[in-house]
Amino acid sequence: MWTSHVLAIAVALLSGAEALHAGRAQHSRVNVRMGPPPAGLVAVSFNGKAVNVAPGTPLSEAAAKARVRVRYDCKEGKCGMCEVKVNGRAMRTCVSKVPKTGPVTVVVP
Ligand code: FES
Repeated sequence: MWTSHVLAIAVALLSGAEALHAGRAQHSRVNVRMGPPPAGLVAVSFNGKAVNVAPGTPLSEAAAKARVRVRYDCKEGKCGMCEVKVNGRAMRTCVSKVPKTGPVTVVVP
């Protein structure tokens, strides 16, 4: 009799842990929607992390604001280490600026 109670408790604990784990996993995949950016700013999404910055802001500065790590080497636009895709186009973060119109999607490898 008591073994069935112990088994029921173990099953309840395990299913609760699975539900908790599933909830965390789903939460980490959710992109936070920020709504339209304030006037004069452009919405930029770095690997799903959204920030609002002024057009023409250095891309490296916007990436830092989004707390996305971009690898740099020369910081002069020569080596290509910092290359990312901005709206599907390859751009070098160290010498590029945020486009004037958004939304902007940046994929950092
Ligand atoms: S760090 Fe070398 S091109 Fe950007």
